[in-house]
Amino acid sequence: MGKRIAFFDTKPYDKRSFEENNEGFGFEFGFFETHLESSTASLCEGFDGVCAFVNDTVDAEVIETLSRHKIGVVALRCAGYNNVDFQAAYGKVHVVRVPAYSPHAVAEHSVALMLSLNRKTHKAYQRTREGNFSINGLMGFDMHGRTAGVVGTGKIGQCMVSILLGFGLEVLAYDPNPTDIFDDAAGFRYCSLDELYAESDIISLHCPLTPDTTRMIDRETISNMKPGVMIINTGRGKLIDTDALIAGLKSGKIGSAGLDVYEEESEYFFEDKSAELINDDTLARLLTFHNVLVTSHQGFFTAEAIKNIAQTTLGNLKTFFDGGFIENEICYRCDGICRKKKGENCF
Ligand code: NAI
Repeated sequence: MGKRIAFFDTKPYDKRSFEENNEGFGFEFGFFETHLESSTASLCEGFDGVCAFVNDTVDAEVIETLSRHKIGVVALRCAGYNNVDFQAAYGKVHVVRVPAYSPHAVAEHSVALMLSLNRKTHKAYQRTREGNFSINGLMGFDMHGRTAGVVGTGKIGQCMVSILLGFGLEVLAYDPNPTDIFDDAAGFRYCSLDELYAESDIISLHCPLTPDTTRMIDRETISNMKPGVMIINTGRGKLIDTDALIAGLKSGKIGSAGLDVYEEESEYFFEDKSAELINDDTLARLLTFHNVLVTSHQGFFTAEAIKNIAQTTLGNLKTFFDGGFIENEICYRCDGICRKKKGENCF
């Protein structure tokens, strides 16, 4: 019998893609639609491993329940891991993830938000369907020659820089671990975060959520930005203090915002809430701005990325159960950048 995996926060596309890619792995899945959290963690009873997603909670309480039920591994089918208490997991449950499945998917979605906000295609779409062919109010700006600020030049940020340079923007970047791959690229340079905020017409966030980056966009940083700045966030919702963003939008200091993530998204994103009231007043306010585009964490959602996610996750689980070296394991000692020696698992 294959190893049994309790699969949380299942959507139809997850089920399809994990079943399609399971040939050769032979896992048995228990698909649960509910999120993983303290009240649902005991559903893992009788399973060998758990598969979780971005809005599942892997905190100390959940880890306690998982280890009581002898779950040895939590396979995150995503790159981000801010929802895991690694200190609590260390020595109890191995945590694996999919470090890269398609950085292009997320970068391209960020550009889609940028182009829509600038050229107002979301408004034009509605107008022409209503028989309104006026272009009043739809004026955008040439992106060519403008300045974009890219915060975080990891896998996604690098794709973003390449696309923006291709558009002819000047690109400023900030990253505490800079890469040298753009050293010879005309129009690109690293700078301080303060300079990036002050000089950019468009700011796009591609760094992880950490104590350092939590609410990095707040009233103070917004006050240092150019009037009319466009802010794109496909990173994590908590990178932005949403109340400060709303204040900036109301005053006109922020010209537009494209948000694929939101501070309190776990209640709403990925779910069809169209028959219910939105009780989150902050989200409801955001949705009233015509210069704000909210998408519900779909940056990763391309055919290529979904296939890569399933294949890497299944490979991670197989390596764990085979007792091999788990390359995609992360623990609190690693802090995202694995320092373990090849062949040595985290514990
Ligand atoms: P990565 O690990 O390749 O790159 C992250 C970069 O951020 C690194 O170069 C790191 O040095 C830098 N960084 C760390 N602290 C920083 C700080 N204080 N300021 C600026 N940069 C900092 O990660 P990747 O794959 O590029 O993903 C970036 C983020 O995008 C993820 O952490 C995740 O939160 C988000 N993401 C969103 C998705 C979506 O569907 N919207 C899908 C996948 C990831």
